[in-house]
Amino acid sequence: MTKICCIGAGYVGGPTMAMIAKQCPDVRVTVVDINERRIAAWKTDDLPIYEPGLLEVVREARGRNLFFSTDVDQGIRDADIVFVSVNTPTKTFGEGAGCASDLQYWELCARRIKEVSTSDKIIVEKSTLPVRTAEAMERVLHAGDNPIHFEVLSNPEFLAEGTAIADLENPDRVLIGGHETASGQKALQTLVDIYATWIPRERILTTNVWSSELSKLTANAFLAQRVSSINAISALCEATGANVTDVAHAIGTDSRIGPKFLKASIGFGGSCFKKDILNLVYLCESYGLQEPANYWRSVVAMNEYQEARFVKTMLRSMFNTIANKRIAILGFAFKADTGDTRESPAIKVCRELAGEHAKLVVSDPKALDNARLEMPELADQIEFEPDPYKAAAGAHAIAVLTEWKEYKQLDYQRIYDSMVKPAFLFDGRNLLDHDALYGIGFEVYAIGRGRKSHLK
Ligand code: UDX
Ligand code: ADP
Repeated sequence: MTKICCIGAGYVGGPTMAMIAKQCPDVRVTVVDINERRIAAWKTDDLPIYEPGLLEVVREARGRNLFFSTDVDQGIRDADIVFVSVNTPTKTFGEGAGCASDLQYWELCARRIKEVSTSDKIIVEKSTLPVRTAEAMERVLHAGDNPIHFEVLSNPEFLAEGTAIADLENPDRVLIGGHETASGQKALQTLVDIYATWIPRERILTTNVWSSELSKLTANAFLAQRVSSINAISALCEATGANVTDVAHAIGTDSRIGPKFLKASIGFGGSCFKKDILNLVYLCESYGLQEPANYWRSVVAMNEYQEARFVKTMLRSMFNTIANKRIAILGFAFKADTGDTRESPAIKVCRELAGEHAKLVVSDPKALDNARLEMPELADQIEFEPDPYKAAAGAHAIAVLTEWKEYKQLDYQRIYDSMVKPAFLFDGRNLLDHDALYGIGFEVYAIGRGRKSHLK
């Protein structure tokens, strides 16, 4: 029986391993993490992350061939294949601060693997890492006269949060990078065979390690660049009276452009996009490629502009003062169907509104616990309220920051009646029916569309 250990029970490691365990009953999968609370939660039905459909997958395999443990060393020692799925946040200090990846968790892992292993292993990079990290990992693993052989593969994960289960079950592709040596190709084949249990072989792409690492950064950079491009156009639409949804539809029907990832918004968030682009920027700069670095950096700059522009629109339309005005924030997660708030544009929006002394009430169906942790410095200025009706009662404005479908189904007449007039609604996701809201009496502002105002 093949034994897999995954180090890191987060948004990537947890769902990915659950899917492998579900699809491959003959493979024993153990997910280990130093975070005891996380591991304890994975053993219950109150999983540490919210992901539609995940609990069903976990339940099917847990206790059969899927296990969770804090015994990292034992997990590594027992395994034939070790996936490394620890966090690699952007560095906040020293060389490359604000750009490069902080690899301390990842290197600790590599050292741990080397120290406790008593048999040969395949090591799989799952975390997004800068190009040529596998090489560094190999150097750590093979330092000194270690008789054990570690074969390092790159297998970046392309799942998106909120749709992780569908993405894992039926991925566009799986990418595996291995060395072009006999042992590299053998290891690569072992991993291909695991995925081939449920994924058609033609969708399993194999490359060398460097191409695989770079493909992950590039995929995220391209996706983020589409969002920044349509957001740039949204500013122009607002200035000219065009409608960004119509523009996106018109360009998206060109089969060369395609319709996906063209939704104008307050900006992209999540743990990957900004981090991966900055990684790419750092890589370009470290190879002396200043123009490509500047090009990719502008994708992040456009995102920051979009977040700031949204707050400016709120401030200007509410007569340039929001001090002491109650503002209900509907949605704090970086996208719908996740409780994840990492790099959520809502963080910047809330901080700036709080800087204007607004009284904020944050509501979200799944992300309130994480939202509380994101802004400890604003604890006295922000109320957290799971019920959107209560959040909106007595408010001067509502800002929709996450596209939760629940928010489409709210009774906006009831909400309007409970608000201070004029009642403002800022739709940062172009989620709602703006004509209907205007009909109720709201002052409506959306992204990349003209405002709908009753004010003279
Ligand atoms: C992303 C990649 O999609 C995934 O392949 C990779 O493995 C990890 O990074 P994720 O961050 O989970 O996944 O979510 P994604 O759906 O890509 O959305 C990222 C951000 O872009 C969200 O804040 C989302 O709201 C925003 N977005 C996305 C838009 O504003 N408009 C769009 O049209 C699409
Ligand atoms: P991602 O979204 O990439 O999955 P997360 O931050 O959700 O990232 O998960 C990474 C996990 O890795 C965390 O639960 C963290 O506790 C774990 N982790 C970090 N370093 C180590 C380590 N040295 N050993 C075991 N687990 C680790």
